[in-house]
Amino acid sequence: MSGQTAVIHADQPAGRISRHIYGHFAEHLGRCIYEGIWVGEDSPIPNTNGIRNDVLEALKKLKIPVLRWPGGCFADEYHWKDGVGPRESRKRMVNTHWGGVVENNHFGTHEFMMLCELLDCEPYICGNVGSGSVQEMQEWVEYMTFDGESPMADWRRRNGREKPWRLKYFGVGNENWGCGGSMRPEYYADEYRRFQTYVRNFGGNRIYRIACGPNSADYRWTEVLMSEARNRMDGLSLHYYTVPGTWQKKGSATDFSEEEWFATLKKAMTMDELIGRHKTIMDRYDPDKRVGLIVDEWGTWFDVEPGTNPGFLYQQNTLRDALVAGLTFHIFHRHCERVHMANIAQTVNVLQAMVLTEGEKMLVTPTYHVFELFKVHQDAEYLPVHLEGKAAYELGGEKLPQLSISATRNDRGQLHISICNLHPREEGNISVELRGMKGRMQVSGRILAGARMNEHNTFDQPERVKPAAFDGASLVNGLLQAAVPPMSVTVLELNEWSE
Ligand code: AHR
Repeated sequence: MSGQTAVIHADQPAGRISRHIYGHFAEHLGRCIYEGIWVGEDSPIPNTNGIRNDVLEALKKLKIPVLRWPGGCFADEYHWKDGVGPRESRKRMVNTHWGGVVENNHFGTHEFMMLCELLDCEPYICGNVGSGSVQEMQEWVEYMTFDGESPMADWRRRNGREKPWRLKYFGVGNENWGCGGSMRPEYYADEYRRFQTYVRNFGGNRIYRIACGPNSADYRWTEVLMSEARNRMDGLSLHYYTVPGTWQKKGSATDFSEEEWFATLKKAMTMDELIGRHKTIMDRYDPDKRVGLIVDEWGTWFDVEPGTNPGFLYQQNTLRDALVAGLTFHIFHRHCERVHMANIAQTVNVLQAMVLTEGEKMLVTPTYHVFELFKVHQDAEYLPVHLEGKAAYELGGEKLPQLSISATRNDRGQLHISICNLHPREEGNISVELRGMKGRMQVSGRILAGARMNEHNTFDQPERVKPAAFDGASLVNGLLQAAVPPMSVTVLELNEWSE
């Protein structure tokens, strides 16, 4: 058992955490869209206009603020006109990037916008730079957002949507340094400038333009984009995946050692350094922090589940993923003045998913529960936490901090404190001074924990890992004390005392 002290600076709030860092990403990849979200109106699986009800209901509970679509690498091969009009006559194409399967285009712009309306979230659409044209991108925006008379707006009406949609977030290409065209930063910067010119603001719709940003530690990419195009962008993306092994041998999602547990958490924490260093470059060009760093792909990436299509990226999800999610959110909180949005990859059946499906069955993952527990941080004030005498989790001569803590205060004055205990065997004891908090408070909490590092939910046992009430915290003379079990994610709520 190890103990440490901390100070939460409730008297020095340091920014606001955009709810958009709790965003999602759903690509035409494997069984994310088809089967996972879209089953079609004629499916025996209960659905709302083709979208499966069980997944919809589960996702609604997360208060998803923004959803990125249609890719990913798929975005730079996607031609939106193939995905509108009567479904039976939509073009069938090959999804060359992801498994070579037939894409029947049944889930297109109208279906995606309907999904966003059902989830009450903002759409974030990624346009095709790699294999698309400026005209195609221009017409897509016109199709979606123009209210007047025009070929695209008239076509939208003929396809059943009278009013334009409100569309704020638009990405000009995806990973254009790789699957989106293998471009050099100088070339992409010029392409970005050209394409974004035609991403028009129609009527009252104002588009937040997101340029393709770097692959993890490619700092030169950020330098060039900021130098050449900063005044024409609102956001610059960043992609970083937590891969415990190598890209060739990533490691199993469920069958792993403590060394792999440790390596995964350590690699997840690299996000802090990446954001810090990209931020330093951005700060030089944009000291007012107008341009957001948009981490629009992040999460764990393991070997696919045995026997599944390698191009489908289907992996299980354990308590280890929950810790990665918690730690990553804490990093985003710390950089909230620059990180304006983040989108986990991906929402259903792909990579670090919230939801897994098998036919008509569905389960929610440990990562889902972290998103649900942490939704209290959305749009709240960030309160800096100072950890003193850091307790360590040591393995093989290496050290990680045992505890990670983040605190926020919402508009109703409630404090939320999330605590991740990375240690697989040791309880974490913490004593917290709430600096600047006066008056009497009461504390309650919820926790996600388990007996094994690889604890996960299966279709036979879908509720093995789920949050429980937490009674290990108390307030003694204004000092918060908590004892959190090994391998756990806890969220405490502090309310003003009312008799
Ligand atoms: O999320 C899976 C893939 O990872 C995305 O399509 C691509 O952008 C990234 O390389």
